[in-house]
Amino acid sequence: MTDILNYINNDVLAAAPVTEPERQHYFIAQLKEIGESYASGDECVSGSNKKLSAAVVTFGCQMNARDSEKLCGILREAGYEITEAEEDADFVIFNTCTVRENANEHLYGRLGRLKNMKKAHPERIIAVCGCMMQETDEVEKLRKKYAYIDLIFGTHNLYKFPELLFMLHRKRAGLVDSLEAAHAGNAVLIDSSSDYERYEKLLRYGLNAGNRKDLEKLYRKPVVSVWRDSSDIIEELPQQRKFPFKQGINIMFGCNNFCSYCIVPYVRGREKSRTPEEILAEIRRAAEDGVKEIMLLGQNVNSYKGVSVSDDQGPAADDGKAASFVSFPELLKRVDLLAGETGIERIRFMTSHPKDLSDELIEVMAASKHVCHQFHLPLQSGSSRILKRMNRHYDKERFLDRAARLREAMPDIVITTDIIVGFPGETEEDFQETLDVVRKVRFDQAFTFIYSKREGTPAAAYEDQIDEATVKDRFDRLLDLQNRLAAQSLERFRGETLPVLFEDISEYDPMMITGKLENGTTVHVPADPEEQKKLIGTVQKVRLEESHGFYYTGSLA
Ligand code: SAH
Ligand code: SF4
Ligand code: F3S
Repeated sequence: MTDILNYINNDVLAAAPVTEPERQHYFIAQLKEIGESYASGDECVSGSNKKLSAAVVTFGCQMNARDSEKLCGILREAGYEITEAEEDADFVIFNTCTVRENANEHLYGRLGRLKNMKKAHPERIIAVCGCMMQETDEVEKLRKKYAYIDLIFGTHNLYKFPELLFMLHRKRAGLVDSLEAAHAGNAVLIDSSSDYERYEKLLRYGLNAGNRKDLEKLYRKPVVSVWRDSSDIIEELPQQRKFPFKQGINIMFGCNNFCSYCIVPYVRGREKSRTPEEILAEIRRAAEDGVKEIMLLGQNVNSYKGVSVSDDQGPAADDGKAASFVSFPELLKRVDLLAGETGIERIRFMTSHPKDLSDELIEVMAASKHVCHQFHLPLQSGSSRILKRMNRHYDKERFLDRAARLREAMPDIVITTDIIVGFPGETEEDFQETLDVVRKVRFDQAFTFIYSKREGTPAAAYEDQIDEATVKDRFDRLLDLQNRLAAQSLERFRGETLPVLFEDISEYDPMMITGKLENGTTVHVPADPEEQKKLIGTVQKVRLEESHGFYYTGSLA
């Protein structure tokens, strides 16, 4: 333990740079020293080669998946070996989602399973972060019922992860400090700095029979730091891609739309866009690393509004250079050009809101060389009345018009959607309108969800919630129709020979390999282990021989 104290004493903390991301890089280096110090001892290490191991478990959407790549990158740079085996890891982190109730249930199930592990190995660390941690009552519940959690943080301060982990090590070694400094300038939703103050006070009296119990109680409390919101965009942190050949690129964060059923704006905060220069630089770095496919990420990418500092027109930026606003179609044009220069083959983006889907975006897509002909256009409901209650700002006609425009400009486009069944007040007639849109648009794939009541959203207070049996019946009917239509749509490309980017060995058959068409559809091709090694990460022409509902099987052409 004395060794470790050298790495976490007050001087080490005081020497940390104040600017970001330099500050976090500093803490990563400190964590590495701490880890090595642990690993040189006999206890605390479950990795075979005396390296600490870490498991990162992700729930939720592409945004969370991208955040998890950063968590993995930070942990790897701090000396951890990334593992899938959460029961055996020295460090486990759950990156949570709260969009529907079952996402929350999922977390509790997984945490419950770790309880015995933590009892047997109290030195191991369990952390929870992500969207669910932006809800104070969920954090309170974890603190009360899952008291063995060591570290809790939210979405806005994910970039502070190295610092928070460092603070946890300080606490464990008995050197405590207020987290207040870490929140400078950002409204704090919940934190554990009052625990720290109390802890420090108790320590000043030294350890005695009177305060030992209190101290122990405080020691066991987690390090908690959740911010209400933040204007920070700190992206230049280490990352570890799940697939070496594809990468998500955050272009904007948060959401201003407040659809009446949705919790995302409350847990992800207000919209903020990165500058085009930063985005293009990240894509350039990805291409240099061999990435072939990028996905531009945001809750509502077509409300992207980046301030460009290098353009020679528009308002002046802080540093005196000219600045101008860049819209999503303009950004996409620039990304397409850069892809041509750097060898990126495929550009995707997610998610678009139908209200903001402009003709300009459709034209840019159709004229581009590398933007995939794939569009995720969430319908939510086909009933104009329900759409109004959902606060979606489009009606059935506008949605049908947008889908038709997409198909007209790009006849080979694949359109996917999200649909919610059982929104409060949904009648059979409203539901029939949804089925009507499904029939007319012929979505290639639909993610269908049963409405889930989220506390704090306007729809949660609506009195006309729909009973379970009715919702279930509608859900089954929708799924049945959609599955039939999707299977028919898939027939469109059967017999064609198209390029496939191979991603992985098939989950279902170790002698098959799985890839994606440009339009996003999954393709399985037979390949022995030798061939698999050569093919994964490359684009090859494949003859699409059979269609199976929502994927193809084929052979290399
Ligand atoms: N920003 C994206 C995605 C948001 S969450 C968009 O606007 O499309 C992904 C999907 O979850 C949504 O499209 C919606 O269909 C679904 N969803 C969100 N809140 C929900 C709720 N309370 N109940 C059921 N489904 C919900
Ligand atoms: Fe939620 Fe609507 Fe924002 Fe999508 S656009 S994240 S559904 S509030
Ligand atoms: Fe879930 Fe958060 Fe994404 S709530 S859907 S992980 S933005």
